[in-house]
Amino acid sequence: MTLANPRTGQIRMSADTSAAKSGNPAVTLTDGATGKTFQLPVLKGTTGPDVVDIRKLYGESGYFTFDPGFTSTGACESKITYIDGDAGILLHRGYPIEQLAEKSDFMEVCYLLLHGELPTVSEKVEFEKNITYHTMVHEQLAAFYRGFRRDAHPMAIMCGVVGALSAFYHDSTDIEDPQQRMIASHRLIAKMPTIAAMAYKYSIGQPFMYPKNELSYAENFLYMTFGVPCEPWKPNPILSKAMDKIFILHADHEQNASTSTVRTAGSSGANPFACIAAGIASLWGPAHGGANEAVLKMLKEIGHKDRIPEFVKRAKDKNDSFRLMGFGHRVYKNYDPRAKVMQQTCYEVLDSLGIKNEPLLPIAMELERIALEDEYFVERKLYPNVDFYSGIILKAMNFPTSMFTALFALARTVGWISQWKEMIEDPTQKISRPRQLYTGYTGRDYVPVEARG
Ligand code: SDX
Repeated sequence: MTLANPRTGQIRMSADTSAAKSGNPAVTLTDGATGKTFQLPVLKGTTGPDVVDIRKLYGESGYFTFDPGFTSTGACESKITYIDGDAGILLHRGYPIEQLAEKSDFMEVCYLLLHGELPTVSEKVEFEKNITYHTMVHEQLAAFYRGFRRDAHPMAIMCGVVGALSAFYHDSTDIEDPQQRMIASHRLIAKMPTIAAMAYKYSIGQPFMYPKNELSYAENFLYMTFGVPCEPWKPNPILSKAMDKIFILHADHEQNASTSTVRTAGSSGANPFACIAAGIASLWGPAHGGANEAVLKMLKEIGHKDRIPEFVKRAKDKNDSFRLMGFGHRVYKNYDPRAKVMQQTCYEVLDSLGIKNEPLLPIAMELERIALEDEYFVERKLYPNVDFYSGIILKAMNFPTSMFTALFALARTVGWISQWKEMIEDPTQKISRPRQLYTGYTGRDYVPVEARG
């Protein structure tokens, strides 16, 4: 492969057959300007693309690689989640997402992501007990909410309140202590539903609801969100199961933008609460976790199937910043396996709630049909992603659109903290410090203000 470099000639890359024969696959780079060659090892995973190990490239060649957006860059080694974007495969510790969504539950998936194996009966009981007994938040944390306006976006509240957890839990911020790392992990997984539900209650002026230890993780979240002190609350098994499945579908997803943010924040030694707050901030963007909220807004703006062609046209117009929210993915160039499960769950929830004429569903289904037939989307392999149907389910469950990304953050916390833990425990871990291609001024003298034009 020849990488054209307009400034210094060309770098040619070729497989190093001799190295391969010796069982140590490598590539050889030849600098077209000097003829110098550099050998770079090729590292093989258990599946997925091999990687060219460029850690010594700059030291030996004086070259950086250049990959804004990391479209061709592996930033770490991981055993947690594997995605095959072409085949539409998603595995958590080797288990397909479809099987976990159908047969497992969110607490089991949390244990699996954190520890690498599905729990035994006793391990699951112990884990659920640990999570259950960390669901309450420090009573003074409630005071933080009163500092926000009632119409503050729940994600703004989550960023602030989760970051503030490190001010309350000093006994679990020593990242060198495995015990403290695990307590911090349990606390974050356990408290996110409480914090998210409190953000919702605060926005509608209702009292905060304390968690109930006899409820499951998903039931507790629905209770703290929709329960009120003056009435008994009974779990709806169908909604609780759907909530639990939605949590599973959002739990982890390899090195996405927010997970990479958590890893980068953690690489400096920042405490886990601060790192998760950084992940929440990154997830909020409409190109990432904020897409579920943006899909609902888009479907409402389309308003009727007849207007779909107008929006599809806008999505294809390079001069229009509009994109079909819930479509496309950096990795999936096939149907997002989570979207398939989400679509099925959508039908189940609407059916169980007796919602026969959800106006947004036919618009979503027609938009999907048109897009999957349209050459622009087919050519670019743009398929519905995890965010396309989730909003319709959450709307049917009476969540306001503004809470959608907060639910994504709630569920993704286990993925973030598992990836953070893996990074901290990686003996080769270093602080993340990328370099750049500098194209600014190369040096000029200061000009006093009176001499400036
Ligand atoms: C999530 O990374 C993860 O794993 C994320 C996630 C997770 O679980 O953590 O899966 C969760 O974030 C899902 C994605 C949610 N975002 C959206 O639904 C927003 C809409 N989608 C796009 O913004 C976009 O598809 C991205 C951001 C998701 C991916 O962007 P890429 O990989 O940088 O792709 P690109 O912008 O280079 O697009 C390639 C082409 C471009 O056209 P050309 O320049 O080649 O002509 O496809 C076009 C884009 O304009 N394109 C779209 C489009 N998405 C891409 N055109 C219209 N509508 C879209 N949605």
